[in-house]
Amino acid sequence: MPLERLRVDGLRVLTGVDCRLHPERNYFFGPNGAGKTSLLEACFLVGRGRSFRTRQTRKLIQHGRSSLSVTVDHRCAEGVRRIGVKVGPEGLSYRIDRQKGASITDVARILAVDVIDPSIHRLIEGGPSERRRFIDWGVFHVEHTYLELWKRYRRILGQRNAALKARMSRAGLEPWTRALTETGEAVSAMRAEYVARLGQAAAEIAGRLLGRRLEVVFRPGWQGSLADALRDDLERDVALGYTQAGPQRADLAVRLEGHQAADEASRGQQKLIAACLVIAHVREAWAAAGRSGVLLVDDPAAELDRGALERLLKEVEALPSQLLITGLSPDLLPVDPRFPMFHVEQGRVRGGGL
Ligand SMILES: Nc1ncnc2c1ncn2[C@@H]1O[C@H](COP(=O)(O)OP(=O)(O)OP(=O)(O)O)[C@@H](O)[C@H]1O
Ligand SMILES: [Mg+2]
Repeated sequence: MPLERLRVDGLRVLTGVDCRLHPERNYFFGPNGAGKTSLLEACFLVGRGRSFRTRQTRKLIQHGRSSLSVTVDHRCAEGVRRIGVKVGPEGLSYRIDRQKGASITDVARILAVDVIDPSIHRLIEGGPSERRRFIDWGVFHVEHTYLELWKRYRRILGQRNAALKARMSRAGLEPWTRALTETGEAVSAMRAEYVARLGQAAAEIAGRLLGRRLEVVFRPGWQGSLADALRDDLERDVALGYTQAGPQRADLAVRLEGHQAADEASRGQQKLIAACLVIAHVREAWAAAGRSGVLLVDDPAAELDRGALERLLKEVEALPSQLLITGLSPDLLPVDPRFPMFHVEQGRVRGGGL
């Protein structure tokens, strides 16, 4: 369900931005450094509580200012809800319909924001933690009990690791190991089920987008049963002072035509594969929740040939999501003139014609 209005102030170069958005699609054009990606970062910040470009949210605050704010009017089943996020010296805080104290989980349950940006290939090429985060974000949307279960697992893992560090006796470790096995298997079962569906959808999309066979396989983070893995690892866990096997080690194996995509696929292909995963995730989340969100597509023309760019845009345009698409100029993108075009320059946004 779409954002009707987006206001941004003090985020990087953006000052006093106020846009009325089209529920289906919006284009943003402008020169390098104008603030296009920053605008998408603002939307991402509202939905996800962080940037997709930097780990340090405070870096988003405009130089010389002490805080930034982003406010969206979001049309959902209950009507229009106003979600505001502020980042200041005390960190990040949310308001929903003027009420303070909302959490990122409250927001993520009503507004789903995803992004396809020029560094998306990191999902394929980068380390497993990005892929785990991607899996968890997906399962969160399709399994409502997942977040609690995952938090419980993290808590028990922390307690077992503390017990290992404190050199607790083997008998003393036993209750932690049992609890860890039970929650770890439950976490992993939900992830495995989700990835099986995600992988199928991604393979189908890849057939159209890349014309190649894509396989996405879930790696739970251990072999066999978790109980056996923890038993086999016990002496080493004690020596290391932390737990090795478990969902904290999970990963996705991504193969293109049977070969590891991280090692062999070109940069453009890695981008398209990662885009397949994000598009598949959006479709799964929509199928499970019956609600669509916002998909940010930053500079899709970067590093893609014309054919790939056209196919990618066709895939995202077929989604039920509201699209915010950026580019340097309308000549470089296949643009549908039925939808508004905004011009971004020196941190200001003009046009749109709504
Ligand atoms: N904390 C900050 N305070 C003020 N300005 C900033 C801050 N962080 C980044 N900037 C500036 O904001 C602009 C960010 O632009 P942004 O990345 O959104 O541009 P863009 O329109 O996406 O450009 P490109 O086409 O090159 O991707 C840059 O000019 C950058 O120097
Ligand atoms: Mg940019």
